[in-house]
Amino acid sequence: MIYLDSAATTLQKPPEVGCAVFRTMQRASSPGRGGHAFAMRAAETVYAARETAAKLFSVDDPAKVVFTFNATHGLNIAINSLIKEGDTALISGWEHNSVLRPLTARRAKLLIAEAGMDREKTLEAFRAELGKKPKLCAVNHVSNVTGFVLPVYEIAEECQNAGVPLIIDASQSAGAFKLDFRRLGADFIAMPGHKGLYGPQGTGILLVKDGAEPLLFGGSGSSSALPDMPDELPDRLEAGTHNTAGIAGLQKGMAFVMREGEENILRRERELAYRAASGLSTLRGTRVYAPKREDGSGVISFNIEGLSPEEAGQRFSDMGIALRAGMHCSPLAHKTLGTFPEGTVRLSVSAFTSAREIDAFLNVAEDISKRN
Ligand code: ALA
Repeated sequence: MIYLDSAATTLQKPPEVGCAVFRTMQRASSPGRGGHAFAMRAAETVYAARETAAKLFSVDDPAKVVFTFNATHGLNIAINSLIKEGDTALISGWEHNSVLRPLTARRAKLLIAEAGMDREKTLEAFRAELGKKPKLCAVNHVSNVTGFVLPVYEIAEECQNAGVPLIIDASQSAGAFKLDFRRLGADFIAMPGHKGLYGPQGTGILLVKDGAEPLLFGGSGSSSALPDMPDELPDRLEAGTHNTAGIAGLQKGMAFVMREGEENILRRERELAYRAASGLSTLRGTRVYAPKREDGSGVISFNIEGLSPEEAGQRFSDMGIALRAGMHCSPLAHKTLGTFPEGTVRLSVSAFTSAREIDAFLNVAEDISKRN
């Protein structure tokens, strides 16, 4: 089976990731819960991962690196910290349900800066909406449906000028794009550990500029006599026992990204996605949804005439190619793209995908489109 669903989860990981998970399960207990050797080893493991993340994302203090269960968890903390029921929130037209649903749950009034896959017009749309002084701005760095890269550094500057707090959803960008927390000046950046950072599922990172409100309340291993969560980060946001083994694996995944370099990973992934998009566009009855080469990443979408995305996805699966079909938990992105409610078939690559795998995918695509 050829795996081309890395936007959901990267399946191939550097071998040291799994080794670290296994070793940590055998040798470490709970960080901050005891002074014995096993608890100390757990604390050192988690702190080492915090330091690695701080270095990778240019965070001045490792305490601002908060471990979460996934990006959704981090986005919920961020949104919960910034808005009250009925407040106005500015978002892009590419947001995932991990942003839309927490905003809807708070009955937020939505301003949508939507300009298709045009970076310049997207920035203009944000500029215009920021004038309405929303309580927060949430931006998806890279669309999980088309791979379109939003001008997040420029949007961050506009947010700063307008005095509007910014949340960046780096679910599809962390590990393939340089995320400089200091330069971005965002209030929060949320990301999963299990995609471009090559960690295990059940891990995520939230970078926090100043304060934040906890979503979970419970033991933090610190200030235990207090009835409330401690004020200090990261303890304020990390109630309950950590996923220590997962975090150990995530540290190895981040170290892999640092060794490879985000620019190199992006160059390879973008090239592979472009190869797939170019090949698909020559096939009869196939429609490709992808940005311009330079505005893209390792994700593209497509549809085959006469087949629903699910049917097409199933045919690929039957012929040994793993893709994701449907709505990709991003109905808003499909509305922006004009593919709502059917959705698309999505192909997404990782640092471990080869050109040969893309060519094998294209052979299968040709076969399916001819037979259809
Ligand atoms: N959000 C992930 C995806 O796009 C799971 O597939």
